[in-house]
Amino acid sequence: MGLLAQHHTLALAKTARLLAMTAIKFSARKVNDPTTATTECAVVYIFSDSKLSGTASALNKASGGAIKAVLDLGDFTGKSGQCSTLPGTGKIKRLLLVGCGEKKQFDRSAARDFAQAVYSGINGTSAKSALLLLDDMKVKGADDQWLLEMLSRTLESKSYRYTETVSKPKPALSLQRVVISCAAPKAAAQRALDQGSATGNGINIARNMANLPGNICTPSYLAQQARKMGRSSNALSVQILEEKKMRELGMGSLLSVTAGTDQPAKLIVMNYQGGKKNDSPHVLVGKGITFDSGGISLKPGAKMDEMKYDMGGAAGVFGTMDAITTMKLPLNVIAVIAAAENMPSGGATKPGDVVTSMAGKTIEVLNTDAEGRLVLCDALTYVERFKPASVIDIATLTGACVVALGSHATGLYANKEQLAQQLLAAGTESHDRAWHMPLWHEYTKQLRSNFADLGNIGGGGGGSVTAACFLAEFAKSYDWAHLDIAGTAWDSAPKGATGRPVGLLTRYLMDRAGK
Ligand code: BES
Ligand code: MN
Ligand code: ZN
Repeated sequence: MGLLAQHHTLALAKTARLLAMTAIKFSARKVNDPTTATTECAVVYIFSDSKLSGTASALNKASGGAIKAVLDLGDFTGKSGQCSTLPGTGKIKRLLLVGCGEKKQFDRSAARDFAQAVYSGINGTSAKSALLLLDDMKVKGADDQWLLEMLSRTLESKSYRYTETVSKPKPALSLQRVVISCAAPKAAAQRALDQGSATGNGINIARNMANLPGNICTPSYLAQQARKMGRSSNALSVQILEEKKMRELGMGSLLSVTAGTDQPAKLIVMNYQGGKKNDSPHVLVGKGITFDSGGISLKPGAKMDEMKYDMGGAAGVFGTMDAITTMKLPLNVIAVIAAAENMPSGGATKPGDVVTSMAGKTIEVLNTDAEGRLVLCDALTYVERFKPASVIDIATLTGACVVALGSHATGLYANKEQLAQQLLAAGTESHDRAWHMPLWHEYTKQLRSNFADLGNIGGGGGGSVTAACFLAEFAKSYDWAHLDIAGTAWDSAPKGATGRPVGLLTRYLMDRAGK
């Protein structure tokens, strides 16, 4: 077997497992007397400016004053992010003290720092189980559900490791089970933990798919993963449209992108029916360029490898679909992924070529590297048939968006103010934030062409905006939003996919489902 084929089988086998499993099992239980608990690691939070919580004092007493002793030494002060491991007491093998900073400043951001510190603290041990003693921990501006969901999502997503194509992958986290003891009623607490771990798992699926190299993660591979997801749930049905079908539908724009590659393009349709039969669906459209060389408008060599991440939108859609399927959200969601590879060859589309989109608009391909909008515009026309409640496309669309917003905010565009506000709110809630950008007609004018209805690039500045305006021309018949995730879908140093915007999208859909 050749190296490539060998890698292929390897990746398929491992990804099959990843899709099926949640790495950490979370459960909620009220622990009244922590000194009688059995765990490999009891996590105790400590504020820098207030006395020990009830559980902390009980454990301090049981351990002969060990917690107080560390505080008195001054080695551990309860400063935010600080961790200290002590030998345990009774059936508790070890105590992990985690600093939370000042009590009156313990807001969402400080709580996130706490979650990260819990993860780092546990990661430094070989504990297979942990007991998080939250007592009556209160976060300013957030309820118990928010805290629990954030904790399971963070612990789950931080535990991700890339293992697919390396001979000796980093060892996995030992942690398998986390019990959280808190003041919230048990059923509500468990629900929040389950939602967070489903989202965390969705984030990891997106990261893993995006991290796979372009020689494994091809449009056919994405189609295969979609079929696999479809088989794993009764609520999810999957349909793959081949190039022949796309030609019949008149998708000349999408097909112009795949003209230069040997890999067949796929239009992947996943239909999740969690709501009533006639409820109009929310539609997610993912850019699935499995490698973007630029085509004949070839990209420069530096960092070109990162263009394997040009299917980050598709990966985010897969991760979101997995999360909502696990949660069994009571609504209908349709995912459409426009999967293709953008390569140069004798048959490739050339700058200046004019193509006809499914909507009938002609497009002058002034730059073959502006291919994302060319595949998305036909997908946006295709989804009209679903009479959607909303359509959101997700795409690593423009380098200009990275210039504008860097890596902290996703660029958000919408033709309906309410939809924009809902997405902004979902981003804030999940700390997977977006920033609202304009879709003014002055920008649309920059797309004028002398030889077609539209050019595929805008003259002048505002490259992320003109790209969005191009898409808007094809999204006039429904409420639509576009997320430009070029700056947020992956990190360059160290290199790796982030799983964004799975957190934002999952939250958006949970809000629509009233969960
Ligand atoms: N996939 C790229 C956008 C991209 C580039 C994302 C770098 C993240 C980092 C997209 O297909 C592209 O090449 N866009 C061009 C558009 C230009 C030709 C108008 C770009 O941004 O340079
Ligand atoms: Mn490109
Ligand atoms: Zn691209």
